[in-house]
Amino acid sequence: VEKERIVSDFKQMLESGVFIDPLLVHTYFRDESSELMLEANQHVERLFLRYVHLEVFAPALKDIPYTSEFMRMGLRDAILSTAVAMTYADAGSLEWTPQSVRSAATRVSKCIAQCGVHRFYILYFVITGHDVMQPLVWHKNLPESEYLDGTRHHPYDSHTLEYFLIIALARRSIRLKVTGNQRVIQLTKRGAERHRWYGEMLDESGYNDKRIAHSYVYQFDTVEDWDEMCRIVWPDSNDLRKEYVQWLNIWPGAHVLEVGCGTGALTFEGQLYKAVGGTGQLTAIDVSSGMLEQGRRKFEDFGHPSQVDFAQASAEHLPFADGVFNFSIGSAFLHFTDGKRALSEMMRTVAPGGTVSILQGLEMEMDQPFFQDWFEPIFDLARRRNAHKPHSYLPHKQRLISWFKEVGLLNIEYLETVSMWVFDDPEIVVQHLVRGISFFQREIMMLPWDDRKTLISELIDRGRDVRRKYPNSERIIQIPSIMLKGRRPDGL
Ligand SMILES: C[S@@+](CC[C@H](N)C(=O)[O-])C[C@H]1O[C@@H](n2cnc3c(N)ncnc32)[C@H](O)[C@@H]1O
Repeated sequence: VEKERIVSDFKQMLESGVFIDPLLVHTYFRDESSELMLEANQHVERLFLRYVHLEVFAPALKDIPYTSEFMRMGLRDAILSTAVAMTYADAGSLEWTPQSVRSAATRVSKCIAQCGVHRFYILYFVITGHDVMQPLVWHKNLPESEYLDGTRHHPYDSHTLEYFLIIALARRSIRLKVTGNQRVIQLTKRGAERHRWYGEMLDESGYNDKRIAHSYVYQFDTVEDWDEMCRIVWPDSNDLRKEYVQWLNIWPGAHVLEVGCGTGALTFEGQLYKAVGGTGQLTAIDVSSGMLEQGRRKFEDFGHPSQVDFAQASAEHLPFADGVFNFSIGSAFLHFTDGKRALSEMMRTVAPGGTVSILQGLEMEMDQPFFQDWFEPIFDLARRRNAHKPHSYLPHKQRLISWFKEVGLLNIEYLETVSMWVFDDPEIVVQHLVRGISFFQREIMMLPWDDRKTLISELIDRGRDVRRKYPNSERIIQIPSIMLKGRRPDGL
């Protein structure tokens, strides 16, 4: 019953637009003395006095030895990560604005007033407790000093960890053992059970999905040269993009919205800008500032065609009026979004009779011997969560078709094709799959921060072995792909 209640509290929190993620906070707010942080602290103080100050937390949090500083930390994490999540939802970017910090504080306040301050802190404990127990689940024994210095938890800091250590000890989730001249932390059976239980709640409530969606954006932000990576790993990608543009039958003069344009590979190399012609208009949007920057550079290389403009926005919240485009389309982006929501936004922005369309890779088999050999550590992570293969982040064809139908698109047509992925250069392949497109994100997020880095080096080494063991021709996967389009009905 308690589990169901917590899952439902999580869902309610997500629906109210509050998102608590210490990882986002520590990624985006490093400067403790910034003006923004000072402003955030004022909101923390206000909410602390309003909700926490005179509260008696027993019995709801009876075995949690909270301090006022710890309670403030919960409020701060909630306000700052909600601010980042709000900027993401409204403007597409993950970079906060001062305005978003103020609005986030209001949202958090409303959420606490609604669910009650006890319940709010239970959610905070589940999220942070799960994160800080992760290295212990993984390593069984960790020297206390190593645990506290935060390197295993980057970007958490040691200051934070001391509190968690005290809480975990009081709740008997961990024990401290003295071996030789050092203290070692061990997870107890109770701690391991708690960790599993927390993980289930975070999965079932949709919290982890949201975390993964954010990670897609900040991973794209850090890709240095997406086009070069594509050229090596996905050599036929531009042919496929061109084929797709032809299949769309865009007429010169059309107004086209391109969603998830990234570096402009469909826009320029795919020749979308030519299809709309000089009299048409092509608006290309993407959520990641890093990818857009590369796109804007390419815009210059292609002689800044006047019909093209770029904007930062997210597919789920398109900042355009209803019915202003003839086509709303995009390639290889839908699986990073809330698919149905993105499609209904795309449908809203086209005029009645207008076309909504995507080019999309589909769920693939992962049974090729070289693939299993190379990515064995990822299969191992999958097995730990009782799955026989890694989670497919690419959707199934039927799922896409039913989304198209469910949002109300008519005359649905599709063309199935394949696209080739080449598994040759181990560094580039791992960059592409792990950082570039977060192919294994669901598995990787089971690892503590530090171990993710170790895994990446391990995968690169394994790639070198696999390259020696299997001939080139066996290290290619034909990824099933689909071009899909539908028409917005009249009278919507
Ligand atoms: C695999 S890239 C594809 C880029 C380009 N369409 C191409 O064909 O190369 C996916 C792009 O989707 C973007 N993206 C992810 N989530 C998004 C969202 N919610 N709204 C808009 N773009 C998003 C990423 O930032 C990234 O640039």
